[in-house]
Amino acid sequence: MSTICFCNLKGGVGKSTTCVHFIYWLSQIKKKNVAVIDADGQSSTSNWLEVMQLKIPVYHITDPDELADQVPELEQDVNYLVIDNAGNLGDATRCTLLTASLAVIPVTPSGLDMMSAASAVRMVKQIQKARKGLPSAGIFINRAIKNTKLLKESQQLLTEIEGINIFKQVIYQKQMIADSFLQGSTVWQMKGVKDAAQDYDKLFREILRMDK
Ligand SMILES: Nc1ncnc2c1ncn2[C@@H]1O[C@H](COP(=O)(O)OP(=O)(O)OP(=O)(O)O)[C@@H](O)[C@H]1O
Ligand SMILES: [Mg+2]
Repeated sequence: MSTICFCNLKGGVGKSTTCVHFIYWLSQIKKKNVAVIDADGQSSTSNWLEVMQLKIPVYHITDPDELADQVPELEQDVNYLVIDNAGNLGDATRCTLLTASLAVIPVTPSGLDMMSAASAVRMVKQIQKARKGLPSAGIFINRAIKNTKLLKESQQLLTEIEGINIFKQVIYQKQMIADSFLQGSTVWQMKGVKDAAQDYDKLFREILRMDK
């Protein structure tokens, strides 16, 4: 049993999209026992999962106290409890970081987004100090465009944020990934996105390796 949360100060960086793909990969491909907490009032993850009918428990919990109480309980019954946070670093996100074993921070390749990622890293590091190194945490670049200067510069900027692991795998900007929510689907059920499915697979393997 592990609790893995997706967080960032910034909205729209791909927390829910990556989170839903991760949940699908863990539960349907890796056949793990998974439960989900959608801690975002926007409910994107719960709505997406409802359409997919994966037959896994999904809880919508946005109250920080409730999260602090429920996470330790819910993770008892599963291999992985996966939490999608809202795009802010409020009390609910802080509570999930206080209970999670691993935090995953998506960031898009832009200078402004790197600054917001640095704020998320700061919060994670404060909590790691209090929890003797937990949660483990890693950052990855989402919505990158291959072979661009911006991607290279962003990768360089990430190395300048101290004290955070950087996942090697980058997830590229793909129209099919953007369409997957409306289709109530993931790249594994869509045609013509084998490369994106492979990229997600590599990223998710890295995430699980970090969770040891
Ligand atoms: N790799 C990708 N390629 C193309 N589009 C993407 C990719 N990842 C995410 N998106 C799109 O970016 C937008 C924001 O993604 P998403 O809703 O997952 O972000 P979020 O961080 O959860 O946002 P919020 O903070 O509002 O919850 C969505 O329109 C989604 O389809
Ligand atoms: Mg979201």
